[in-house]
Amino acid sequence: MKRTLSILLCTLPLAAQAAPFSGGNAAAGAKIHAEQCNACHAARFQDDGSKIYTRADRRAKNAASLAGWITTCNANLGNKLFPEEEANLGAFLNQKFYKFK
Ligand code: HEC
Repeated sequence: MKRTLSILLCTLPLAAQAAPFSGGNAAAGAKIHAEQCNACHAARFQDDGSKIYTRADRRAKNAASLAGWITTCNANLGNKLFPEEEANLGAFLNQKFYKFK
């Protein structure tokens, strides 16, 4: 019994790593993105905010750097978003554009 429990506890973090942003709610992230994020990106990319995520030389190269960019851009907004909201944004952006595993 003890052994089973410790195996379970050891494999949990691995499972979390396998699916980045799995704790986030993509639908909630989409809403925040439309309200707070898209306009500024769209202003720089010919009115199409999604181009910042699909350009050939995009900056986010893996899940960790995507999370970093979300935090950086949250600072652009005066850090008004909570960590849960950043996780929701990560779930949305990863599901729709980046598809990091
Ligand atoms: C005040 C303007 C501004 C706001 C608001 C803003 N961003 Fe950004 N964001 C930028 C700029 C400019 C870049 C590109 C920086 C570069 O290319 O070096 C960027 C880049 C990014 C990237 C990296 C894209 C890539 O190349 O892979 C992500 C992810 C991102 N923003 C997410 C967000 C999210 C999520 C929000 C809303 C919470 C947000 N941004 C709000 C200006 C903004």
